[in-house]
Amino acid sequence: MTIVYEQWQQQAKQLATLFGIEQTHLVSTADALVELVNNEPAEQLVVLGPSTPLAEAVGFSEQCRVRRPTLGVVLLRQHLDINVMTEALRAGVREVVDANDPAAILAACARSQDLSRQLEAKPKLNGATVPSARTPEGSEPLGGQVITVFAAKGGVGKTTTAINLAVALADGGRHKVCLMDLDLAFGDVAILTQLSPERTIADAIPVADRIDETGLRSLLAPYRSGLDVLLAPVQPAAAEDIGRQLISDLIQLARDAFEYVVIDTASAFSEQMLAALDATHHYLLVTTPEIPSLKNTRVTLDMFDLLDYRKAARTLVLNRADSKVGLSTADVEKIVRMPIVGSIPSSRDVPVAANAGVPLTVSSPSHPVSQAYRDLAVRLFLNPNVADLQKRSRFSRGRS
Ligand SMILES: Nc1ncnc2c1ncn2[C@@H]1O[C@H](COP(=O)(O)OP(=O)(O)OP(=O)(O)O)[C@@H](O)[C@H]1O
Ligand SMILES: [Mg+2]
Repeated sequence: MTIVYEQWQQQAKQLATLFGIEQTHLVSTADALVELVNNEPAEQLVVLGPSTPLAEAVGFSEQCRVRRPTLGVVLLRQHLDINVMTEALRAGVREVVDANDPAAILAACARSQDLSRQLEAKPKLNGATVPSARTPEGSEPLGGQVITVFAAKGGVGKTTTAINLAVALADGGRHKVCLMDLDLAFGDVAILTQLSPERTIADAIPVADRIDETGLRSLLAPYRSGLDVLLAPVQPAAAEDIGRQLISDLIQLARDAFEYVVIDTASAFSEQMLAALDATHHYLLVTTPEIPSLKNTRVTLDMFDLLDYRKAARTLVLNRADSKVGLSTADVEKIVRMPIVGSIPSSRDVPVAANAGVPLTVSSPSHPVSQAYRDLAVRLFLNPNVADLQKRSRFSRGRS
C-alpha cells in the first residue's frame, strides 16, 4: 500500500487513481498521517502531495529518518525549486518530483520502495566476510585497500573513473592493482580497455564454493604493468548467478594479492553491490553538476548513513566539474552536504578515448583529465594529503 497525504480532494483522487484506489491509503490531515504511519509499521512509502506545506514535509521526514528509516518519503511539488529540493533532501525526503509528471512519480516511488526492501532485507543477509568501511577507523586488518567507485545514477563517469584511477594507482608497475568490473550485467571495462573477455567473473560461478587465490589469478586479464582486471560476464544473464558470497570471497582474495582493489559498480543497491560496498574501505562517489545527479548522490549518502558506512571513508568526486551549467562548486557542496575532494574536467577527449578503447591516462598521461586522476590517486591513496583527510573528517562529523 502507498500512503498518500493530500489536502486537495481533486489532487488526492488523481493520486489514488495513479497508484490504484485499492493500493492507496488516503489521508488529508497531518494528525491522520502520523496515526496511520504509527499503526502500519510495515508500510514502506508515504507520498506527500503538492499541498503539503514544506515545513510539515521537512518535519515529518526528519522524524521518519530517525524512527522509521525503512519508510521512504516522496514529496510532490507543483514547481520544482532548487531551494525546496535542497531543504527537503536534507531532511531525508528520498525524492522531490513534479506533481504533474505521473511517470516520474511512479518511477520515484518504485525506486523508493526498492530501497526500502533492500534496507529491510539487510539484517537478514549473510554478513560480509571482509572488514570494511563499517569497521571503526584504525581497526582494519592488513591487506589491500578496497576502493569502490559508486553512484546511484548511471552515466556519471563511474567506469571512466575506475579505469583511470586504477591506471594511476598502478603507476607504471610501482603498485599492484586489481580492477574488478562488478557492473555484472553491463560491464564496460573490457570494451574501454580492449581486453578480450576470454575469462570473466562468470567462470568463477561453477567453483564459487572453493575459489582460492590461484583460481582468482586464472580469471584475471593482465592490462598494464601492475594492473590486472577481473572482467564482467559477457552474457548479462550470468549476473544473476553471481552470489553475494562469491563477490565477498573474490574481493578478499584480491586483497590478499594486491595493494589496491578498485571496483567499478552498477548504479543500484542490489544485493551484489551491497556485498561490494560492505567490503569497501574507500567509497569514491562520483557525481556531476546536475540536479538529478546531485539528488541521487544525496539519496546515496542517506542510504550510506543507514547502512553505517563510515563518513570519513567517503570521497566525493565531481566529474565534468567545469561544465557551464549554472551550478558552482559551492552550490554542489551545499546540496550534497559534502566537500568535493576531486574534480575531473569535462573533455570530449574522454569519449574519444572510450571509442578508441584506450583510457586517457594510458594514451595521454599529461592530459588535464589524466592529471586530475593522477592527482586524486596521489592525494587520496599513494600519498594521502593531511588537509584532504581533515577536510573530509570535518564534514563527516554529525549529519550536517
Ligand atoms: N570528464 C568527462 N568529460 C567528458 N565526457 C565524459 C567524462 N567522463 C565521462 N564521460 C563520458 O560520459 C559517458 C558515461 O561515462 P561512464 O561510462 O564512465 O559512466 P558510468 O557511470 O560508468 O555509466 P554506466 O552507469 O552506464 O555504467 C561516456 O560516454 C564517457 O565517455
Ligand atoms: Mg559504467
